Amino acid sequence: MIAGHVDDLNQPTRSFVKASSAALGKTVMQNDHFDAQQWQRYIELETGFVLPDVQLKWLKNAIDHTAQSHGLSVKQLWYQLPKSNALRQQLLDKVLIHESRFFRHQPSIDFVTQCAAEHQRLVLNADRISADGVSGVDKLFRIWSVGCAGGQEAWSLTMSLAAQQMTRFAILGTDVSEQALAKARLAQYDKRQQALIPQHCQPYVYPLSANHPTPTSSLADTAIPATALQASWQVAPTLQSHVSFALHNIIEQQPPTPHLQQVIICQNMLLYFRKFDQRDILARLSAQCAPGGYIVLAPGEALFWRPANMRRIANPQVNVWQKTNT
Ligand SMILES: C[S@@+](CC[C@H](N)C(=O)[O-])C[C@H]1O[C@@H](n2cnc3c(N)ncnc32)[C@H](O)[C@@H]1O
Repeated sequence: MIAGHVDDLNQPTRSFVKASSAALGKTVMQNDHFDAQQWQRYIELETGFVLPDVQLKWLKNAIDHTAQSHGLSVKQLWYQLPKSNALRQQLLDKVLIHESRFFRHQPSIDFVTQCAAEHQRLVLNADRISADGVSGVDKLFRIWSVGCAGGQEAWSLTMSLAAQQMTRFAILGTDVSEQALAKARLAQYDKRQQALIPQHCQPYVYPLSANHPTPTSSLADTAIPATALQASWQVAPTLQSHVSFALHNIIEQQPPTPHLQQVIICQNMLLYFRKFDQRDILARLSAQCAPGGYIVLAPGEALFWRPANMRRIANPQVNVWQKTNT
């Protein structure tokens, strides 16, 4: 699937999208004509994600397929969506862009690994100074991977930290797609993904035997994508206790966890959102960032952002902000 950039992300506000979408519910399905823009707006209202125009054919196929697999017409699907969470979820699974890969942006992973190493030193020092072992420093280095897709970013970070002998860290991956999360939890990938993993992290690649149980036989209910069926390896089971995955829609106000995070990494997702949504999301992410913690975006993302409580770190390769106060 080709990921394209969204043009014109400067519509006024989210309430504008809501208002136009309320009218949409009444008018869209007067006949069976497929109106791609109306469906695009539905996806945007649900998730904030603006499907690029190059994806419209993909969107139509996803809608047709979802409708057919439930014995519905497209019009019936439209009216069933508000009543059925499962249908809505299945459509989102199909239309959102879940493209990801291991070590997608190595400088960002190296940066986070360095931060984790510094944090570990700080914790060890604090432990030495504090006789009772209570130092006030959160001992776990917490990382939140936002829009984690099939888990490649979260697992890359886990491998990188483990390769530096770090043990006290917890990584949370969240996504709005159940299907993507099922793949992330399974932690099984194909040979192309293995080739992207640097040498020092290859010890965390465990070959799957040719007759390993297929995901469909063990996880019949969780619509694992076809690519997972060609899996040839899995992430080392010893790493799995560091990582958890949870369903979370980033346009919701409520965070997925009460814990503040030392690093929030959100790459290749915001570019699909309108600017006002990007701003709101970033404000919520900064609220979830621990003092002194970091928000890591993909290079070139949200360059317009000027938060009062964060400072941009001068790093030519990594698009990173540090929280300066609460
Ligand atoms: C292109 S992938 C990026 C994956 C990964 N961060 C990376 O850089 O490789 C974008 C992900 O954002 C997720 N996403 C889209 N809208 C979302 C939302 N409202 N809340 C949470 N995740 C969302 C999609 O399901 C998809 O898995």
